[in-house]
Amino acid sequence: MNTTILNMEETLASYLPGEEGLQKTVLEAMNYSFLAGGKRVRPRLMLEAYRLFGGEEEAVAPFMAAMEMIHTYSLVHDDLPAMDNDTLRRGKTTTWAKYGEDMGILAGDALLTYAFETAAKAFDMTKYPERAAKAIGVLANKAGIYGMAGGQSVDVELTGKGLTEEQMLFIYRLKTGALLEASLMIGGILAGASEKETGILERVGACMGLAFQIRDDILDVTSTEEELGKPIGSDERNLKTTWVTTYGLEQAEKDVEKYTEEAAALLASLPGDPGPLTEWVRKIGKRKN
Ligand code: IPE
Ligand code: IPE
Ligand code: MG
Ligand code: MG
Ligand code: MG
Repeated sequence: MNTTILNMEETLASYLPGEEGLQKTVLEAMNYSFLAGGKRVRPRLMLEAYRLFGGEEEAVAPFMAAMEMIHTYSLVHDDLPAMDNDTLRRGKTTTWAKYGEDMGILAGDALLTYAFETAAKAFDMTKYPERAAKAIGVLANKAGIYGMAGGQSVDVELTGKGLTEEQMLFIYRLKTGALLEASLMIGGILAGASEKETGILERVGACMGLAFQIRDDILDVTSTEEELGKPIGSDERNLKTTWVTTYGLEQAEKDVEKYTEEAAALLASLPGDPGPLTEWVRKIGKRKN
């Protein structure tokens, strides 16, 4: 049993770089955004998927940290003036607003690259280097142009233009779903899940991604800055077509429920006891921030 992963925050923080050297400012900016908080949804899903398939090594921990670094970089860049131009994230001033736009860009770049340096640490911690190699491939694929970055690109390009349902699903699946898919898949892969089981985990992540982004769109309209830790009304200000602007709040709420239950049903088809993971999936579906 990977007993040292009992404390999520300590585990993640232990993989952050030291703030020293001439490039100290960018190191501070990286750690600032990472340690500002966040629900740590992706490393949690990775850990629960890992446990579902009987994983017992510490080698999942560098992957959990790597995933949160990539997610944090996506937020740092998403907030930049050229993108959503937001000044509040995780209850704090956004990285670019605190350290300058140049450091915001570089802190994002550095977090993305450091994530792979961190994930590579798993090779010295595992009896299964071939699993770690496969997991790094998934991490790269789902973060990149066929995943999160690809989704963000289409989101930005089609802003203000109105979206078909197909385009909206494409964007949500990639910009938000891809990292959730990768989190579950990597947890499974590191613990020895088969191709077929990994494929099911990918579909669970895809359903969760839709539920997650639709909930995010709802909260952008219904929540408060205090509770959310980021600005409300960001989508309207940026002329975004969202699930809420297209289908209304009531339908959006129903769709979150629908995709969450689809994810839970897929989990039920996996071997072992998916109970703990399913509980997280439902909890994330109902989240308030
Ligand atoms: C926010 O993600 C960005 C989206 C993909 C909607 P989270 O809601 O997981 O943000 P943190 O990590 O808790 O700050
Ligand atoms: C962006 O979606 C998802 C990412 C890949 C960062 P949003 O732009 O709606 O995310 P928030 O609301 O700023 O967290
Ligand atoms: Mg955005
Ligand atoms: Mg945004
Ligand atoms: Mg949003």
